[in-house]
Amino acid sequence: MNCMTPAEIVLMKKAGEMTRDALNYAATLIKPGISTLELDKCVEKYIIDRGGIPSFLNYDGYPASICASVNDVIVHGIPSADIVLKEGDIVSIDVGVIYKGYNGDAARTFPVGKISPQKERLIQVTKECFFEGIKHLKVGDRLGKMSHAIQAYAEKHGYSVVRELVGHGIGRRMHEPPNVPNYGKETDGPIVTKNACIAIEPMINMGRKEVGMLSDGWGIVTRDGLPAAHYENTVLITENGIEILTL
Ligand code: MF3
Ligand code: CO
Repeated sequence: MNCMTPAEIVLMKKAGEMTRDALNYAATLIKPGISTLELDKCVEKYIIDRGGIPSFLNYDGYPASICASVNDVIVHGIPSADIVLKEGDIVSIDVGVIYKGYNGDAARTFPVGKISPQKERLIQVTKECFFEGIKHLKVGDRLGKMSHAIQAYAEKHGYSVVRELVGHGIGRRMHEPPNVPNYGKETDGPIVTKNACIAIEPMINMGRKEVGMLSDGWGIVTRDGLPAAHYENTVLITENGIEILTL
């Protein structure tokens, strides 16, 4: 796992705060009638105005500054003028910010107006998966303890965990080792070390775990067409516990 110096940790915290602020700003814009491209353009300007760099833009050719994934789109939804939010939708917004060379990465699923109780519960349980997971994240333990706890919590609620995409180490690059899956055995993965930063990001499907890809080559959708939710934070692992940098 990566190991950050005290000076690097200061910058990771700053990148985390900017990412959190951008996500909170996105939340204020979400309402029926706004397109996901409008959201993208507003959040992009917000980040740049504050001296950050939107890390997703041009990442492996990704064409936008946020991912905006509606209903059965799990993650990596490309913003579009043609995708207009409507009452009852859920939309997962994922944002990454680089500040002075360090990365923050975070995502939330938001309701658009009034949504069904089923969707409310999916959003809630996906968030709880993250918090259940970090209870099992400790220096000296296997990372798999957390991964296993996330899977158990999701499945206990009748949901399934996406396998094809995982969380990741984060620092000077958005994606660093190790992989941080939301499933697996307690004995899997590396030993957790102190002063490491990782992005933990449960992607939870209301129905079955199988996924497909949209024809744009980015959007990941549920195969069964049921909705999915995403909840991600960048965290710092210390000897004294977990610090969530994007909350
Ligand atoms: N936050 C996501 C991740 O953790 C999405 C980045 S994909 C990108 O991998 F292409 F948009 F950058
Ligand atoms: Co991520």
